[in-house]
Amino acid sequence: EYAALLRRRKAITERKEAPMPKVTLKAFAKINLTLDVLGEMAGGYHSLETIFRGIHLYDLVTMEKKDRGIHLECDKEELPLGPENLAWQAAELLQKDFPVIGGINIKIVKRIPVAAGLAGGSTDAAAVLLGLDRLFHLQLGRQKLSEYAERLGSDVPFCLYPLAALGRSRGELLEELPEGSEMWLVLVKPPFGLSTGEIFDHLSQVEISRRPDLSGALKALEEGSFGELCAAMGNVLEASAFDLQPKLAEWKRDLAGPVGTGPVVMAGSGPTLVAFFDSEEKARQLAAQWGQPRWDVLLSKTLTRQELEKRFILTEETEGERGE
Ligand code: C5P
Repeated sequence: EYAALLRRRKAITERKEAPMPKVTLKAFAKINLTLDVLGEMAGGYHSLETIFRGIHLYDLVTMEKKDRGIHLECDKEELPLGPENLAWQAAELLQKDFPVIGGINIKIVKRIPVAAGLAGGSTDAAAVLLGLDRLFHLQLGRQKLSEYAERLGSDVPFCLYPLAALGRSRGELLEELPEGSEMWLVLVKPPFGLSTGEIFDHLSQVEISRRPDLSGALKALEEGSFGELCAAMGNVLEASAFDLQPKLAEWKRDLAGPVGTGPVVMAGSGPTLVAFFDSEEKARQLAAQWGQPRWDVLLSKTLTRQELEKRFILTEETEGERGE
């Protein structure tokens, strides 16, 4: 009897010491090369036509199995760590459908600016879907994952495979596009956030003077032409955002001035302004001129398929299972 007790104690100790299975993946941000609003839809949404493009700027999302509950940690203090966080909601959504997900610890290392128009919250949620799928061998496949993503938010489906895609409806109906030529980017995040809902609501109060040229942009991506893509870019939400924050228009002009190559376009519903370049050198030059203490300035570039394929940077499993 005593021997049995010892065996049990040993087993419990060993189980405690054994590493809990976990995965870590890069959650990439997105920008919009074009964004047009076609009209209003039922449910308060707007019908869009937008070219999403993933960029090489990412949060790190780690998921570790736990016995119960959903626990969220983040190195940025301003983020909510409960049900208001989209990453938390993603875990809950899968947990409801898959009891095998007993509990989960999610850790986010935040590098993507928050409330910036770069889909930082959406991409963390997409990463949770992908990570849990891997960790618990759910084998959901692209279609099922997209359905879950759509329930979380308009940008989440793109964030599952953030290369290049044409988004329609709320942005959730996706059609893959060629990635086009590599571009260097300078992202300038003003020291305030903008509410997506407010930007869309305010759109009916402003006049849209310039719309992006979607067919021109599609052709440019197909041909890998940087110049033609630049000429076709645009975001109608700028009209709304600039009316609410007139400083943004000024900053856009200032940004386009000094180095003078590609255009400056607001990312999504803003307020991040993105300057496009075909060379790293010019991008670095602008980033240096706009660096702190002015605002957050990040140098980035468009995401490649190879980089996306390597987004799982840790898959640590136990009980003889191994991830790829
Ligand atoms: O889908 P998501 O939660 O990201 O959208 C946030 C808000 O942005 C919505 O509540 C809506 O007011 C607005 N929106 C919109 N049309 C879209 C996407 C978002 O009006 N296509």
